[in-house]
Amino acid sequence: MKILGIETSCDETSVAILEGTRRTKELKILSNIVSSQIDLHAKYGGVVPEVASRAHMENMIPSLKASLEEAKTDLKDIDIIAVTIGPGLIGSLLVGVNTAKALAYALGKPIVAVNHLEGHIYANFVGANPKSDLQSDEADLRSAKAEILNPKFPLLCLIVSGGHTSLVLMEKHLKYKIIGQTLDDAAGEAFDKVGKLLGLSYPGGPSVEKEAKKGSPCAFDFPRPLIKSKDYSIKDDISPTNRGYNFSFSGLKTAVLYKIKNEKFPPEANQPLVEKMKNKKIRADLAASFQQAVIDVLVEKTFKAASLYKVKTIMLAGGVAANEGLRNQLRARSSKLGANFVAPSANLCTDNAAMIGAAGFFKAIEGKFSKWYDINANANLKLI
Ligand code: KG4
Ligand code: ZN
Repeated sequence: MKILGIETSCDETSVAILEGTRRTKELKILSNIVSSQIDLHAKYGGVVPEVASRAHMENMIPSLKASLEEAKTDLKDIDIIAVTIGPGLIGSLLVGVNTAKALAYALGKPIVAVNHLEGHIYANFVGANPKSDLQSDEADLRSAKAEILNPKFPLLCLIVSGGHTSLVLMEKHLKYKIIGQTLDDAAGEAFDKVGKLLGLSYPGGPSVEKEAKKGSPCAFDFPRPLIKSKDYSIKDDISPTNRGYNFSFSGLKTAVLYKIKNEKFPPEANQPLVEKMKNKKIRADLAASFQQAVIDVLVEKTFKAASLYKVKTIMLAGGVAANEGLRNQLRARSSKLGANFVAPSANLCTDNAAMIGAAGFFKAIEGKFSKWYDINANANLKLI
């Protein structure tokens, strides 16, 4: 089965072509073109929706052509078109959705509608990637491949991106139960905001991680919000077994802000924030201490849920999954618990169309197709 994947939910225009084998569920990426708008939005310090949708319109056809060319594939050889229909920025989503509809109509092919979060989860099922930092040696590579082709359920997926932080329990493929999510900022959003406070380049996630490598995670004792909480899930299930898995990151970001504002960092106490951040040692320590606070909460909650639901696999997904510290600490705890740990290769963590194609492939196997006229973008689409 040849799958054309399209992703435009935020600020990356991406088109991918994958080849999948139904019987073995093996998937191969033939091309995965990601046209990033980072430079366009950097001067604003965040994504500007209008600018994003215009850029998607400009980038869509060149990305489609590049993807077909790299995959040495003709449009007529495509079997299904998988597209992100939500959640995301409506103007951005509409560009991808309408491109998919036009192609489906012209080619007479079915569409598979994909939820963006489902895409992040299925970045894990694209197949063992030899270039992944996840698998360090041959044995690891073989076991990761077996795990991906035949994952052990129940599986718990921690999705951490710029817009979402969710713990999702899966009893089988495509069946999701949200057991916890953020009550305010997403983990990636907190990284981005703290990156800005520290005067680092946009987007904050990768820059904070880089800075953190030079500092000490114990230098500042930032709060670990809700780490021992008994909060109820914001979903309707409030059974005793379903408490304490929600997250909150906005207070942590504020704690970093006040630390910078109030601390009398040498050489002078009362400088503006930007000046204070020229103290390289302090900046690196702030980044490392903040990052560790986020990781501690994510790891603690994931393993509390993993033990309770007796999961066999811990999975990581979303842009923040590219964070090495988070991957390493989750992997270490998984092996203590005796659970498998899976994370996408670093280049598939942030938004891309290969993950949408992968989710589309698994949905197509289960016959979840739609006609072009039944597909619409939905900015607030829920996973369940
Ligand atoms: O999944 P994604 O590409 O877009 C959304 O669906 O939101 O995630 C983007 C987020 C941004 O907040 C970015 O700062 C964060 O992922 N991110 C990271 C790292 N790489 C990207 N956060 C922490 N460490 C990283 N290495
Ligand atoms: Zn995303």
